[in-house]
Amino acid sequence: MPLTQPLRIHELSPAELAMYRTLDVERMPEHVAIIMDGNGRWAGNRTLKRFVGHQQGAESVHFVVEAASRINLPFLTLYAFSIENNLRRPRSEVGFLMKLLRNYLVGNVRRMNDNNVRMRYIGRIQDLPPDVVETMRWAEAETARNTGTTLTLALNYGSRAEMVDATRGVLQDLLDEAHRRRCSVDDLLSVSGLDSVDESTLARHLYTHDMPDPDLLIRTSGEMRISNFLLWQIAYSEIFVTDRLWPDFRGEHLLEGIAAFQQRNRRFGGLDTESSDEDLPDPLMPELVRS
Ligand code: FPP
Repeated sequence: MPLTQPLRIHELSPAELAMYRTLDVERMPEHVAIIMDGNGRWAGNRTLKRFVGHQQGAESVHFVVEAASRINLPFLTLYAFSIENNLRRPRSEVGFLMKLLRNYLVGNVRRMNDNNVRMRYIGRIQDLPPDVVETMRWAEAETARNTGTTLTLALNYGSRAEMVDATRGVLQDLLDEAHRRRCSVDDLLSVSGLDSVDESTLARHLYTHDMPDPDLLIRTSGEMRISNFLLWQIAYSEIFVTDRLWPDFRGEHLLEGIAAFQQRNRRFGGLDTESSDEDLPDPLMPELVRS
């Protein structure tokens, strides 16, 4: 569903505006997800500490979120911190990223409100440090009434963990239902059958249950991997990989990704009308075609 607030195109930078003017406004994505990568390399290229790369990366977040809100993008999801980052990076880097996140939230809530941006999170948030979780909840509550872009930060996120959590949710529902009806799970399943658990059951238990799947997935820094990000949700997303490192990524590059998205022919596993050969005779099985 497109957002109905007025577009704030006049607030785009000249470079963003030039890129925006090349777009087909009738074919804008509803949800863009970004794997922000290359902070460390950006710093390394300048013989700076990795921390500086992350700091510049936080600046990019601010620019990209503002551009998204100005073009009324309904959903923007950023992969900010994975479960693997949490487990495998030095404690000092993890601690710095947590501090950066808190500073970002404290420093940007007012701006988010000015831009009508609503903050949300996906991931195993409960395992983050309590002071960080408290600031996150505060920022979420402060922006909850905004009706523009929903900015979702994936934090302590892993797609496989999300699917495990969703499966646990499905099982918990079954146990609760059996308890409510005073019967066993066996009894319950003998009535409803295993077919009652389908894709929509699992999707309802994903962290993203109330948002559309991403239309476009962008990855910076040229790496051709998904890195355990939204594996279920990107089944039919278009993928745009840019060599640009995240700290150099700006609003115009988001728009460049959207321009590439608009060149794609999305078929969702079907055929487009030009590819259909239904009307052509079949040379191998003429009798089948005739009958
Ligand atoms: C990948 O770069 C980036 C991250 C692990 C963290 C992303 C964090 C930010 C963009 C800044 C903070 C975010 C917010 C929302 C305030 P990398 O370190 O893996 O880079 P490399 O592959 O070049 O080493």
